[in-house]
Amino acid sequence: MKNANSNNESDFEIAPRMMQAQGVGNDEEKFENSLRPKNLDEYIGQDKVKENLKIALEAAKKRNESVEHILLHGPAGLGKTTLAYIVAKEMGANIRITSGPAIERAGDLAAILTNLEDGDILFIDEIHRLNKMIEEVLYPAMEEYCLDIVVGKGPAARTLRLDLPKFTLIGATTRVNAISAPLRDRFGIQHRLQFYDLPQMKKIVERSGNILEVDADEDAVHEIAKRSRATPRIANRLLKRVRDFAEVKGDGTLTHSLSREALELLEIDEYGLDEIDRRILQIIIEKFSGGPVGLNTIAAAIQEEMDTISDVYEPFLLQCGFLARTPRGRIATETAYEYLGRKIPVKLI
Ligand SMILES: Nc1ncnc2c1ncn2[C@@H]1O[C@H](COP(=O)(O)OP(=O)(O)OP(=O)(O)O)[C@@H](O)[C@H]1O
Ligand SMILES: [Mg+2]
Repeated sequence: MKNANSNNESDFEIAPRMMQAQGVGNDEEKFENSLRPKNLDEYIGQDKVKENLKIALEAAKKRNESVEHILLHGPAGLGKTTLAYIVAKEMGANIRITSGPAIERAGDLAAILTNLEDGDILFIDEIHRLNKMIEEVLYPAMEEYCLDIVVGKGPAARTLRLDLPKFTLIGATTRVNAISAPLRDRFGIQHRLQFYDLPQMKKIVERSGNILEVDADEDAVHEIAKRSRATPRIANRLLKRVRDFAEVKGDGTLTHSLSREALELLEIDEYGLDEIDRRILQIIIEKFSGGPVGLNTIAAAIQEEMDTISDVYEPFLLQCGFLARTPRGRIATETAYEYLGRKIPVKLI
């Protein structure tokens, strides 16, 4: 990066610090990075997204241009950040990383933008958390690669237009609906990442197992994959926990029975649901007669952050049909009643 100064560098370091604040420590981060696929061929699943990206990247390379701006959205842990790194790698580009909440003032963003070079990738995680004023700086930057700066005050104020390098913005978000329409429209490429199916999850567990050099039976891989909520980050975390268990209770080999025991000890059931998932369903059924009930009410009742519920728990509960969304709030489905062994209310039959 040209003209790097300490101020700007600190912007780019904010993402890891934020992860720490969310309870994801440095070790966890290193662990995640060590397991990140490095190129599109290593990246398992999301075939449509990969195919589309491959074409966009190749076309941009052929024309010797930067890739269009890319918006990646979908539930936590499905591989958005990983994909952003891969795009940079495939383009042979530098990647600068920051996040919505880390950019507090328009000047912060201006400093980041003016330090980019042609072809660089700017990755803004949690892009839905950018404030309105900063979004407005971003519009001309994305569209015309320029920055409007106001110099002076009052009647003497003038706007200066600075040219910016041809960079690619990659935005990631778990909440695409929270992004304003004008910002969203400025991304030429937009993809939603989907939950992974079981064969894909097995491949992910197998791949991570190979990198970590763990010896795992096929049944153990199946068990971990099945209980990972269709989410690679969770698969990797469970693999690590099961590996610990196998080292302490066995000879280190991940067998089917050891994996089951380890996962049961973690209170992760056959569906991959944990204690909090069960509390969410219980509360809706017991306290709110099955719903409809708003997310904030659920969050208050189980004393969890609303963001955690909406980004981490709810998407999977919706995906596997335990919860349904209605205009008036969430309802517990027949499947949820059956799962908790409760009598299904007449209104659902
Ligand atoms: N397609 C994939 N194939 C193999 N491993 C994957 C894949 N996608 C994600 N992973 C693994 O899952 C972990 C989490 O992925 P990543 O950090 O990219 O998720 P994310 O979508 O950015 O999550 P968040 O919304 O919480 O930021 C990575 O460390 C990576 O090893
Ligand atoms: Mg991420």
